[in-house]
Amino acid sequence: MPGRTDLVIFGASGDLARRKILPALRGLDDGELRVIGAGRSDIQEEAFRKVVAETSGSEALAATADWVQLDYAVPETYGRLKEELADDRSVIFYLATPPQTFSSILQGLTASGLSGKDGRDHRVVMEKPLGQDADSARRLNAQLAELFNEDQVYRIDHYLAKDTVQNVLAFRFSNSIFEPVWNRSAVQSIQITAAEEIGIEQRAGYYDRIGAVRDMVQNHVLQVLALVSMEPPATFDPVDIRRAKHELLRSVDPIRAEQAVRGQYEGYLQEHGVDDDSRRETYAAARLSIHNWRWDGVPIFIRTGKALRRQLTEVVIRWRDAPHLKVGGHLQRPIPTLLVMRFQPNEGITLRIGAKRPGPRFEMVPAGMTLEYKRLARAPLPDAYENVLSEIMAGGHTAFPGGKEIERSWEIVDPLIQSWESEGHPETYSKGSWGPQAAEDLVTSGGGGRWISSGDEPGT
Ligand code: NDP
Ligand code: BG6
Repeated sequence: MPGRTDLVIFGASGDLARRKILPALRGLDDGELRVIGAGRSDIQEEAFRKVVAETSGSEALAATADWVQLDYAVPETYGRLKEELADDRSVIFYLATPPQTFSSILQGLTASGLSGKDGRDHRVVMEKPLGQDADSARRLNAQLAELFNEDQVYRIDHYLAKDTVQNVLAFRFSNSIFEPVWNRSAVQSIQITAAEEIGIEQRAGYYDRIGAVRDMVQNHVLQVLALVSMEPPATFDPVDIRRAKHELLRSVDPIRAEQAVRGQYEGYLQEHGVDDDSRRETYAAARLSIHNWRWDGVPIFIRTGKALRRQLTEVVIRWRDAPHLKVGGHLQRPIPTLLVMRFQPNEGITLRIGAKRPGPRFEMVPAGMTLEYKRLARAPLPDAYENVLSEIMAGGHTAFPGGKEIERSWEIVDPLIQSWESEGHPETYSKGSWGPQAAEDLVTSGGGGRWISSGDEPGT
């Protein structure tokens, strides 16, 4: 902890603050932390304190919490906030507001002398999505660089704060047996799935402008891809990890519409707040290529969507099949060797191999060797936002992407987003399915076999 700290949450009246940020403060209430909610809403101090008590479960935090009413776009309204912030305390500005407000808030902070460049311990936290495309992300990064030093900036991608995602680095770089088979000579294909069972819930206002590519692919999915496929970093320091991820993302081709599938779940148009004729995608799948020595020619399939059969976030590495297996004069169908890194639920890693079925005949069956991640933990796995908040408090940067990765990720998805803006209606898929039929064809025709969902696949 940086000692006495004021946490200013812009947009504290919103969904994210109530569901994720305030509950994550449970356990961080060491008497040094004070929460200040800020926004346009006219909320009385007592009412806000009640919200803090209910969401964080901490009477101590609630007792000192305060609400400051301001208009994000009017710097003159930041005066009360400035008065609230004592000079001898660290300040964390958490922008939990829609992305179109970020630039105004940064201007408001500067105009009222609250930026971080004058030697004070002021930090700024930005929620995703950072920008709407590569150009706007570059502008935002440039604005941030004028107001804060890079080590004062925290760009959130809460996937990087998931223990299971961080474990990708531990798995790859502390077990040297996998390195010789982590490349184009041995790997047949890679799949990344980020499936959700829930629909858009109450978030139509946000989601109907954003869609699955901006919401999930540009950030979470590409960050996971980078961790799975990047070169070993010089050290595990955040700067080196960011450099390795950025280098990998530079090798990923921007996605064209011909390599992708766009879907919308049945009933999306009837969701409260969605335009009657919305063409927004709630599902996206794509075949990606990485042009470098390690991965050239290995197809990478990604898919993400809402209202799918069940929640499932995982990476599947499929190694090349055994070249030949003849038993009793008959060729046996090889069982693909799979490594499944399951981020949620049933967190863990499974190596699916072919084994001999016990008995008199020499018959192959799929069998799994599994690490159950929860059994490694001494306590229940923390929510990603708990990790995010405690790392920001401690001044760490491991769980945060750098500005360059974010810009490059936009460059990868921008052509796809632009093509889809001018296309007709997405393919409809049934709620509770695995998405549009075309996504199955994408994998089959792209040399990936079929989508693998652990739990459905024998041995996983
Ligand atoms: P909300 O839509 O709930 O907005 C948060 C607050 O911002 C509102 O309570 C409101 O506060 C203010 N606000 C809303 N719309 C506008 C607007 N058009 N102009 C100015 N202010 C506005 O958003 P969330 O809490 O869902 O998300 C906040 C941020 O976190 C976004 O950047 C989002 O992308 C990101 N995020 C959200 C996730 C979630 O699960 N909710 C997950 C991951 C990221 P007031 O009226 O008091 O000013
Ligand atoms: C958020 C997206 O970033 O991630 C949401 O905005 C999505 O739409 C969420 O539901 C998924 O996160 P998790 O941790 O539940 O996989």
